[in-house]
Parts: sequence; structure tokens; C-alpha cells
Amino acid sequence: DQEKAEYKSRIKQLLVKKNAVLIAHYYTDPEIQALAEETGGCVADSLEMARFGNQHPAETLIIAGVKFMGETAKVLTPEKTVVMPTLEATCSLDLGCPIEEFNAFCDQHPDRTVVVYANTSPAVKARADWIVTSSCALEIVEHLDDNDEKILWGPDRHLGNYIQKKTGADMLMWQGACIVHDEFKTKALKDMKALHPDAAILVHPESPAEIVELADAVGSTSQLIKAAQDMPNKKFIVATDRGIFYKMQQLCPDKEFFEAPTAGEGATCRSCAHCPWMAMNGLKAIEEALIDPTGKEVFVSDEVRIGALKSTNRMLDFTA
Ligand code: 13P
Ligand code: SF4
Repeated sequence: DQEKAEYKSRIKQLLVKKNAVLIAHYYTDPEIQALAEETGGCVADSLEMARFGNQHPAETLIIAGVKFMGETAKVLTPEKTVVMPTLEATCSLDLGCPIEEFNAFCDQHPDRTVVVYANTSPAVKARADWIVTSSCALEIVEHLDDNDEKILWGPDRHLGNYIQKKTGADMLMWQGACIVHDEFKTKALKDMKALHPDAAILVHPESPAEIVELADAVGSTSQLIKAAQDMPNKKFIVATDRGIFYKMQQLCPDKEFFEAPTAGEGATCRSCAHCPWMAMNGLKAIEEALIDPTGKEVFVSDEVRIGALKSTNRMLDFTA
């Protein structure tokens, strides 16, 4: 802990010296979230991370999260230096939606409005008409459905199916999934609920439909945190990355939070309720990125950036 305190103190000085701000996602480790809060940065869901970076005056944005979050920051503020603790922190949804294949899919359905989840590359975003995050996907698809638009949706099939069920919109799906949320298991969740009948079940919509069906509240990370505050229950079973417990526990100190059960434990589970790429954002990596950003800076070509900016801004304007 002494070592961590020393890291934190050096990072604080470096942030000031480099005119940088730390922006962290709710799934990063608790010490990273605490550091972002203590230094005037922010801890947020993917939509608010984008908005915060876009409006903050710092010259350098340190994005502790996964690659698409850094790329979104660069798309919105190309004049800033955008640095990540590691550019290797990716996302299974992004990896599972390569631009060539996605382009071919879109080309086959030119009559459809292309709606793309934020967890994608800037090239895929440039192909899209709209970007959404889980905070605003429902309202944006509702709006498009009201205008009788047929939708091509990518890449998260679980989120897409959830929105389709809620809105009744005509949606053709790309078949991507999040490796973390895909691991939650229905029977084990029912067993856990039987043990804690007074607990409310909170579910991120990247989870499979059978898990979403058991939920008392479904929503993005920020919406789940709000549900934990607003609901009268004293216990919650939470089906999303365990990084979120930091903020839930901070805001609800008298409530108890349990991880929803996953497929396996230890070595048998690829990603038991914690995203392996979010976990790459350590204090050491943040300090190194501040000292020497070489190889950690995010770049997006102008051509792609301009396309991605259009669809990303459409989301920001819609949700402003
Ligand atoms: P939120 O937009 O809900 O923060 O989700 C981002 C994400 O990657 C969830 O796995
Ligand atoms: Fe991607 Fe899932 Fe990790 Fe979120 S939790 S960044 S969707 S792999």
C-alpha cells in the first residue's frame, strides 16, 4: 500500500506538470477510479467519459478504459494529446467487428440505418449513421423506429436483442458479444436469488437474454449505479464487471453487493466478472504513460475521424 501511495503521489504531480486529466471507466480498478476523483478527473460510463473529455480544458487526456474510449476522445478532440495506459486494452465487441466485414454487411442492406454501439473502431463508427452507448441506445432506437427507419445494428447481439424486444423496431443484427457479460449463468443466478430473496438483480444489457429476464433493473453502468441508490433494497446481485462495486459501495455504504455468478472460477473462467482489458489499467502503466507517451498515444486518420465524428456528434447532440 505504501508503494501504491507513492505511485499515486507521483501521478498527481505528473498530471499537473503535463496539464493532463485522468478519465476512468467504472470497470477500472478501485484505486484508478479513486485517483481520477481525487485529481479533478472523472469516473463515468462510456457516454459521459466522451462528454467530459470533449469539454475539459486539459491539453492531455489520460483515458483509463479500453481502446475505443481513447479513440472516441481523439475523434472528438483531435487537437489534444490522448494517451492510454496501454493501447492493448481492447474489447471483444471491437475485435469481433472488423471494418471490411462490417462494410460488406452494410453494403448488402443499403436501405437500413446503421446504428453502431460505441464499443467499436473509428472506422466502423465512420460507416455508421448513429453511434449509441447503452445509456442512450433505447431512446435513439425508439426515435428511429418512430420515423419508420429500418435498422442495421452492430455489434452486440445481446444489447441489440434487448432493445429490439423493448421497442419492437425492425433490427438486423451483427452477432458480436462481450466476453465478460456472456459468462453470467442463469441457473446459478436463480440459485443465488433463492439464497437472497430480498436482493434486487441489476443487469447490464450486454448480458444474455435469460439473465436480462431475471433482472429487476437493466441499464448502462451509470443507470445501474443510480438503480442501486434509488431502489429500497438493501442487497443487490449485480451482473456486470465488478469494477462497478467501487462506486456503488461509495454511494450506498449501508447496502450489500454480490457478484452475479459466472461460468467458472479461477483458471476455468476467461473473464469472471472482470474485463481483462480494463484490468490492464494499472498505476504503473499510468505513470509510465505520463512520463513517456510514446507508443501509448491514440491516433486516428483524418479521413476516418471526420466520418466517426459525424455519427458520434449525432449521439452527443441527441442526448445533450
Ligand atoms: P457503459 O456505456 O454502460 O459504461 O458500458 C461500456 C462497456 O464497455 C460495458 O461493458
Ligand atoms: Fe468490451 Fe465487455 Fe470489456 Fe466492456 S466489459 S470493454 S464490452 S469486453
